[in-house]
Amino acid sequence: MVKRIAVLTSGGDAPGMNAALRAVVRVGTSSGLEVIGVRQGYTGLIEGIHVGGTMLGSARCAEFRTPEGRKRALQVLEQNRVEGLVVIGGNGSLSGAHALSQAGFPVVGVASTIDNDLNGADITIGVDTALNTALEAIDRLKTTATSHQRAFVVEVMGRSHGYLALMVGIAGGADVVVIPEVESDPNAVAEALRDAYARGKRHAMVVVAEGAKWNATALANYVTNHRERIGFELRATILGHVQRGGGPGAFDRLLASRTAAAAVDLLAAGESGVYTALVKGVISALPLERALIPKAPPDPELVKLAQRLAR
Ligand code: F6P
Repeated sequence: MVKRIAVLTSGGDAPGMNAALRAVVRVGTSSGLEVIGVRQGYTGLIEGIHVGGTMLGSARCAEFRTPEGRKRALQVLEQNRVEGLVVIGGNGSLSGAHALSQAGFPVVGVASTIDNDLNGADITIGVDTALNTALEAIDRLKTTATSHQRAFVVEVMGRSHGYLALMVGIAGGADVVVIPEVESDPNAVAEALRDAYARGKRHAMVVVAEGAKWNATALANYVTNHRERIGFELRATILGHVQRGGGPGAFDRLLASRTAAAAVDLLAAGESGVYTALVKGVISALPLERALIPKAPPDPELVKLAQRLAR
């Protein structure tokens, strides 16, 4: 029977991670477990464990990707008599969790990343809040864009997955959405914006994912370089880390509480090598190997919907 577990948050932080930490601590202690917090993700695991509260910090740890780093982490866990570990994070973090579990250490992951790029998960902790943050920014930009009849390109996070951009584009009324998974042409983007003006709109808006070839900077430069032919300017706003900050909304708090509680229950029941996530609307456990497989591109129906709504 597992008696002492540790928990860490790793990779990019996400709104809702603290709610997940609270659930791990409360559910763990209510099940008679001793729960230890590891500060600064896997770095904390390599450098040593400190008893912590909920705000544990997070990090991307290059050393943990090496066999020596993971060996050191396992030693630290052993020295601290930890018998199980909960890892809250995205695909990089869960890949690390998989490596520890392959080495024989009991680990259960909790799906958390604003990118929503975890294979198998419907929606991960932080996505909903990040979407709402981006939408609020877009609503604000629209007001000023309308006053000046301007065109804006808004860049949202998403290194390799366009989920956030697509959803923000659909919900925020973008005239064009540019994502890494779908090839785009800057001239076609400019045409779509021109078309928005021609239809009488008083502003025009492109939403792009940071990982797209034609990201905000590239698109704005293109329009500047072809200003005479295109006939209007394109202002760029990069939302960046603002989407990862701030308080989580109700959806993320609940998702975090439920998935983290399920992770602790699984660990206490002797399970390992899985991560908890919302799958087809149900809190489920998926094998950690799945987190190593890249998520499929967004549903083509959603890409089509974004295009239809823009006309
Ligand atoms: O994975 C989440 C994420 O916010 C990505 O959308 C973004 O590309 C990346 O993290 C940024 O990472 P960092 O904060 O380490 O620069």
